[in-house]
Amino acid sequence: MSMSTKTVPKLALFPPMTKVNKEGHLVIGGCDVVDLAEEFGTPLYILNESTLRHKCREFKDEFGKYYPDTLVIYASKAFLNQALALIFKEEGLGLDVVSGGELSIAHSVDFPLDKVYCHGNNKTPEELKLALDWGVGRIVVDNFYELEMLNKLAKKRGISQNILLRLTPGIDPHTHQYTTTGTIESKFGFPLATGQAEEAVNQASSASNLNLLGLHFHLGSQISEIQPFELAIELVLGFARQMSQKFGFHLGEFDIGGGFAVPYTVDSRVPAIADYAKAVTSKLAGLISGLEPSRPRLIIEPGRAIVAQAGVALYKVGAIKEIPGIKKYVCVDGGISDNIRPALYGARYEALVANKALEPERDTVTIAGKLCESGDTLVKDVNLAAVRPADIIAVAVCGAYSIPMSSNYNAMPRPAIVMVKEGRARLIRRRETYQDLMSLDSI
Ligand code: LLP
Repeated sequence: MSMSTKTVPKLALFPPMTKVNKEGHLVIGGCDVVDLAEEFGTPLYILNESTLRHKCREFKDEFGKYYPDTLVIYASKAFLNQALALIFKEEGLGLDVVSGGELSIAHSVDFPLDKVYCHGNNKTPEELKLALDWGVGRIVVDNFYELEMLNKLAKKRGISQNILLRLTPGIDPHTHQYTTTGTIESKFGFPLATGQAEEAVNQASSASNLNLLGLHFHLGSQISEIQPFELAIELVLGFARQMSQKFGFHLGEFDIGGGFAVPYTVDSRVPAIADYAKAVTSKLAGLISGLEPSRPRLIIEPGRAIVAQAGVALYKVGAIKEIPGIKKYVCVDGGISDNIRPALYGARYEALVANKALEPERDTVTIAGKLCESGDTLVKDVNLAAVRPADIIAVAVCGAYSIPMSSNYNAMPRPAIVMVKEGRARLIRRRETYQDLMSLDSI
């Protein structure tokens, strides 16, 4: 496995081909980010289009190489808007959506809805109706309540809906507690260990208007070990074999979820996409012989691993507070309103001064946000070049789960987002205005 044991240079965390120009400015996607900050304001999120596309292809190629019948569906929750949905459509990916909102974004760009998989532990009747009326490919049924409701709704429409069942294999992927989903006490899915998974297969197989196509599991997110995937594949395929003997169930699709980890810091050690692909597909190949007549289609649901590295957050420095002998805070113009991950999960990031990228990093500082919370720090104890007010800070690996988890806390307008490619930048979401913040209010 190609896990490095050394630290990598900070620049290697930014989108590949990120450079520093002779002014010492960071250049991403051919654009000087200091110019971008000037033109579009800060905080600003930059997405590098070629990194995004490259990651889509890497997943398709690496898994497809060993297991040709693989469908990569992007987990929209990591970050979706119309521009991104169009890119994923062009790259031939499917989509995992978890709400009527995500489904509507896909629908708005004519995303092929037969490649959309609807997830969620509490899909509302309205969301299920929308999914059925728009003809989504698969609904991943999470519980008995949904199973019954979905069958009724499909019956009413005179259709047979393709479904997968979400199973809880009872495996701990050793990641953050909040992003662990495959253990028995999880709110998601039918547990294998309690017999509820078997009962779900029984009910789904006999439901008049549901077509049980396959099984799904998702263990969690930022899983930096491969073994939990292997264990879960073994367990769930064993279960599939039992179900085929008991109920004549045929595994047409096998969805192993997402959770592939990305490096956030110079000392992160995570498997490469190729490592996950090789391990998962060889485990699968070794076990599916008992499932003939046909091999199941493999579905994977990466979110973070597709968008994270493509994204960079830019902030402008304001106040600098030094507590002699104790700490130095560099305060920026965003914070937990645009990236709650450090506060919520203790997530770690790397940052640099984007307009001083050639200068030595001799200052150890904490980058703090501007929100009224002591917990509003973005990066703790990071080495930076000598920093002054009005400098631009760039935080790497910000493409996943920051914008979609952003809020208007402290009535902060959400940042603008630009997509960069070959020296050009286009706005893919404008910055919110104060007027926007009040636009839904009435007196
Ligand atoms: N499939 C399902 C059913 C999921 O629930 C998720 C993520 C994914 C796929 C994609 O997982 P990924 O490949 O992105 O790890 N807010 C947290 C992450 C929550 C993930 C929720 N589910 C964070 O910021 O780390």
